[in-house]
Amino acid sequence: MSVPKLFSWIRGGLVQGPGYGYYMLFWWLYTERTLRSKAAVSPYNRLRKLLLVKSGIVIGEGTEIGFGSFILGISRTPPSVTFGKRVAVAPYVVFVASSYPDNSRLAYHPEAKGLVQKTAPILVEDDAWIGAHAVIFPGVTVGASAIVAAGAVVRQDVPPKSIVAGVPAKVIRTLD
Ligand SMILES: CC(C)(COP(=O)(O)OP(=O)(O)OC[C@H]1O[C@@H](n2cnc3c(N)ncnc32)[C@H](O)[C@@H]1OP(=O)(O)O)[C@@H](O)C(=O)NCCC(=O)NCCS
Repeated sequence: MSVPKLFSWIRGGLVQGPGYGYYMLFWWLYTERTLRSKAAVSPYNRLRKLLLVKSGIVIGEGTEIGFGSFILGISRTPPSVTFGKRVAVAPYVVFVASSYPDNSRLAYHPEAKGLVQKTAPILVEDDAWIGAHAVIFPGVTVGASAIVAAGAVVRQDVPPKSIVAGVPAKVIRTLD
């Protein structure tokens, strides 16, 4: 299809109104995947939050999501990630609410299947703080006022008021 033809298909004719492609374009712009990608690279916290909320993420009052942080998993019910109030997420945190090996045949390998395909919602409770470049695995709950150190790979629940660090993340201290 030539470029002018593509545009006229998107625009539709003056007589018949907007074309099918026009609606498809809007639909695509509002998919969870597109909204989350835009949120990750948005320079403004408010815009990041708005786009994430539109994509089905639950974000409590006062929560800040750092630049470059990304949520894998497009579920709306239940939401891939639920953030409580006043949660602080540093830049470049990855929330792996769903993992899937794309076109790799590992998806059908009897032993690897269960390892590479995992989907479960993540919960981050009130006042938790997640350091830069941390990775949060499917199904994890980060407890209230817990701290996840920078670069931690969190595979298990983080108890409230505890500090976890390392790969895999372990409790290094608790807050009184
Ligand atoms: C978690 C954190 C707050 C801990 O700070 P701290 O109390 O000063 O930590 P300490 O220096 O007392 O370290 C305690 C132990 O944890 C280890 N540790 C601390 N941070 C670690 C990390 N990110 N990864 C791995 N181990 C870590 C230390 O090596 C130390 O181990 P040791 O006792 O064997 O020597 C801090 O290390 C951190 O990761 N902050 C996040 C910073 C960030 O991402 N900010 C984003 C800006 S919004």
